[in-house]
Amino acid sequence: MGERSEHNQQSGQIQRAGFNTRAVHAGQEFEPRTGAVVPPLHFSSTYAQDGIGGLRSGYEYGRGGNPTRDALQEQLAALEGGNHAYSFGSGLAAEDALIRALCSPGDRIVLGNDAYGGTYRLISRVLGPWGIANRPVDMSDLDRVRAAVSAGGTDETRLVWVETPSNPMMKISDITAIADIAHDAGALLVVDNTFASPYLQNPLALGADIVVHSTTKYIGGHSDVVGGAVVVNDDELAEKVGFVQFAVGAVSGPMDAFLTTRGLKTLGVRMERHSENAQKIAEWLVGRPGIEKVLYPGLPDHPGHGLAAKQMRRFGGMISVQFSGGEEAARKVAESTRLFTLAESLGGIESLMNYPSEMTHASVKGTELAVPVNLLRLSVGIEDADDLIADLDAAIARL
Ligand SMILES: Cc1ncc(COP(=O)(O)O)c(C=O)c1O
Repeated sequence: MGERSEHNQQSGQIQRAGFNTRAVHAGQEFEPRTGAVVPPLHFSSTYAQDGIGGLRSGYEYGRGGNPTRDALQEQLAALEGGNHAYSFGSGLAAEDALIRALCSPGDRIVLGNDAYGGTYRLISRVLGPWGIANRPVDMSDLDRVRAAVSAGGTDETRLVWVETPSNPMMKISDITAIADIAHDAGALLVVDNTFASPYLQNPLALGADIVVHSTTKYIGGHSDVVGGAVVVNDDELAEKVGFVQFAVGAVSGPMDAFLTTRGLKTLGVRMERHSENAQKIAEWLVGRPGIEKVLYPGLPDHPGHGLAAKQMRRFGGMISVQFSGGEEAARKVAESTRLFTLAESLGGIESLMNYPSEMTHASVKGTELAVPVNLLRLSVGIEDADDLIADLDAAIARL
């Protein structure tokens, strides 16, 4: 059997395998010369040519292609059920490339009214002046979504942009129903799958056209690398995104791609543990003195619980908590935990605590995307749940 057909047969087998097998093996064949089980990290910015135009395996220059980045892209596509993935230097670089690949002046983006603040900032303050309109809407209200998508005006809806669970309000949106609304209007549905990760939710299988990720979060998983990705299942969309990746060049570097790949191999194992810990902590928080509301889709009285159970494998590691003592109480707890570190970001193995109103979502303060001032967002890590609960207990007891 030739080397190429053996490779194709192997990747076909991996595509059909379970999630954890794909995570470990997709794009990760051993190096043929030495047998190195971990594919080598390729730092080279350029590639020798066998005569002018004589490229080896298509590699020419690092912005256009790099084997370490390709390995990550193959792994990402296999885990999201797409046929193409593109890796970028950050989540926002991925979003920017996607929007510039698909939108032109006069196009409208309908997005969740609690989308990540940086996404809104990119769309409204960077792309707005270039002629891209936006309409924030409550994505859990399908009538409002339909109205915003088909509303008349000088602009026309090109993209519908959903985050589910959303950051930090933990709202759950119906991916399949919103895909239908977008498609009826001739628009495409983008799902930011950062909070769920490909282990918990696969939007392409639910009807979405495009998935974006901040791979900085659960995919990298160790708070040591910034990155982003776009995944699609359509050759035409892929060509457009791939062209902007190449022509604009916000690609991930080889070291970042390598670290992201390494993190991604253990995603399934980590997400199980994040979800288990978060469920325990959310249940412990409910009804505790000083707690006004616990926002976690794994709680049976969460408005999106049934939908989350349908479109997600488990409920994830993110919890938001609102305090009856208002802003002062939220700030005090944020500044008095020991295991939960007060920091931006989420999705790493260590537990983090964030005060969105002044931290991750400061850019939407005063807009309709503003976050309640009595809210803290917890990114529950993989430590022992009892220790995390003791840490929260001690901080809440000081109120
Ligand atoms: C849901 C979501 N999407 C996108 C981003 C942007 O990603 P990055 O910070 O990697 O640019 C973030 C970052 O916090 C996020 O939480």
